[in-house]
Amino acid sequence: MKSQIKVLFFADLVGKPGRFVVSQMCKSLKEKYEADYVIANIENAAGGFGITPEMSRKIFSYGVDCQTSGNHIWDRMDILKYLDEQPKLLRPANYPPGCPGHGRYIADVNGVKIGVLNLMGRTYMKDVDCPFRVADKELGIIREQTDIVIIDFHAEVTSEKQAMAYYLDGRVSAVIGTHTHVQTADETVSERGTAYITDVGMTGPHDSILGMAKVPSLDRFLTAMPKRFTCAKDDIKISGVLLTISASDGAAEGIERFKIDYGSVAESDLNE
Ligand SMILES: [Fe+2]
Repeated sequence: MKSQIKVLFFADLVGKPGRFVVSQMCKSLKEKYEADYVIANIENAAGGFGITPEMSRKIFSYGVDCQTSGNHIWDRMDILKYLDEQPKLLRPANYPPGCPGHGRYIADVNGVKIGVLNLMGRTYMKDVDCPFRVADKELGIIREQTDIVIIDFHAEVTSEKQAMAYYLDGRVSAVIGTHTHVQTADETVSERGTAYITDVGMTGPHDSILGMAKVPSLDRFLTAMPKRFTCAKDDIKISGVLLTISASDGAAEGIERFKIDYGSVAESDLNE
């Protein structure tokens, strides 16, 4: 059995450019980093709002092993049934009971079990159940099978993300922040073996406002009127982190941040 497990985590995929760059680069990055497992947050994959079952299936076919999400997971109605059927597409575990889908997945990678848990913050977000107490409950279940636990903590504010990392310090392999789409430069591994980054950033068009075309997004601030958002196209980057984790006790040994340029692609060439 391997002594280390390497996990690639791709930051929030936005729209067609985000899906396209993963289709082009996932397998080569997996090879380059010798990654055993690939996680991607996909909640903005459908034009910035949610994901469809067909898109989710395609993203799995590009080499992504587990998909996480957040507040936008409910944006496409046709995802609801698929969420119940596909255990490797997660929605935050702290949505109240009665919501479709699953918040945790435990993978078996050549005999090594990897737990993935999706949680969502509450500050400036929906008033979901307490992510800290749900983390305790979920860890009780996951750690019966494995000490390797990677958390996608989908939250708005830095303080809540740092608080979660402190709360779970030494109890999980990694707390990876998602949702803000702006990559932070604070990746670290604690003395107790928990890797952390406040936000992994965005996989998609960076000549944008959080992945959306700039003009309607700016207009919303200038006029306070609702505007129809469209996905931006240019300056495509694939962002994320590579986690190195001890296979024996689940302690993180490294976290490496990346943001790789793909450039701009004519819309007609964004063929996945
Ligand atoms: Fe989000």
